[in-house]
Amino acid sequence: MRSLAKKSIHTIKPYVGGKPIEEVKREFRLKSVVKLASNENPYGPSPKVVQAIANAARELNRYPDGDCFYLREALAKKLKVNPKQFIFGNGSDEIIVFAARAFLKPGDEVVIAKPSFLIYKLASKIEGAKIKEVPLNKDFRYNLAAMKKAVTRKTKIVFLGNPDNPAGWYFTAHEIRAFLKGLPQNTLVFIDEAYYEYVAQKDYADSLKILRSNKNVIVTRTFSKMYGLAGLRVGYGIAHPEVVDYLDRVREPFNVNTLAQVGAVAVLKDKAYYKALARKIERQRQYLYKNLRALNLSFVESCTNFILIKVGTRASSIVRALLKKGVIVRDMSAWGMKDYLRVSIGKATENKKFIKALKILKG
Ligand SMILES: Cc1ncc(COP(=O)(O)O)c(C=O)c1O
Repeated sequence: MRSLAKKSIHTIKPYVGGKPIEEVKREFRLKSVVKLASNENPYGPSPKVVQAIANAARELNRYPDGDCFYLREALAKKLKVNPKQFIFGNGSDEIIVFAARAFLKPGDEVVIAKPSFLIYKLASKIEGAKIKEVPLNKDFRYNLAAMKKAVTRKTKIVFLGNPDNPAGWYFTAHEIRAFLKGLPQNTLVFIDEAYYEYVAQKDYADSLKILRSNKNVIVTRTFSKMYGLAGLRVGYGIAHPEVVDYLDRVREPFNVNTLAQVGAVAVLKDKAYYKALARKIERQRQYLYKNLRALNLSFVESCTNFILIKVGTRASSIVRALLKKGVIVRDMSAWGMKDYLRVSIGKATENKKFIKALKILKG
């Protein structure tokens, strides 16, 4: 079959996500397992969102609205953006895939950070693009000046995670302005803001403002992270209507399901729940920092709901030992970071279980 498969996918390894809770329970015969591996919201969606989704289930005999009319209207109003500037995806992952599908052909170049979110590379490789990876600075921040230098006439997309995963840090309004200045107009700058709702820093780039003066920019956000709808798969991109038009041409007709659309609209109406949730995550982040320091472990400070931790050369064996204790975290080997694990910030009880297990392993 190798000769049948596109050449560009010969070297691709399928994406491996965080292990599901039920699988770990079965494998290790455990009653209680906590998952801190996929940067999900540990508290779940708001009860009002769950109710809206349950009500909508009665109409699942119908195809979804391919245009996401109500969600488009609600977001346009909230963000004060023209409704024509939105593209919706089965998770924001799918918008990354649309961008690669619409704009990349074999031989084109893509610039990304190293380490960065794996889907940028995966989606680009499928289209036969050449990947140029620019290492993060020693402090795990983006080196936007070096990324700009890596851009050539062949560069079709630059993927920027703001904040990126796995490092969990952001770049500032000032840095992105300098990056965009003089950049070729036929290079698409893809700003991925999957963790936007967690960022509290004052100098965080205002991407909607950037969009107003840069036709070659797309910004993506998601309902999977803070908003707790990872299981429904819905995210969106905001860009110039001309960019949206091209992305729309490579989109399947009913890519965002009905429950996802209804759930996302309900999320936008329940500000109070998510504001309280952000505060809880912030408290838990401080709890983890304090305990990681007490364990003498170095970690990357994060403005998101996950933390990258240096555990020494045995990260994969520590991850396995944690699994046996019923704690699922992410081994960073797939990112080429063999000494690191990434933990998502969970509820108080979950974080305690993680710290307790780490203490035993370190002790
Ligand atoms: C940086 C980044 N972007 C995008 C995504 C994709 O999220 P979703 O497809 O669920 O919207 C993730 C998920 O882990 C992420 O970490």
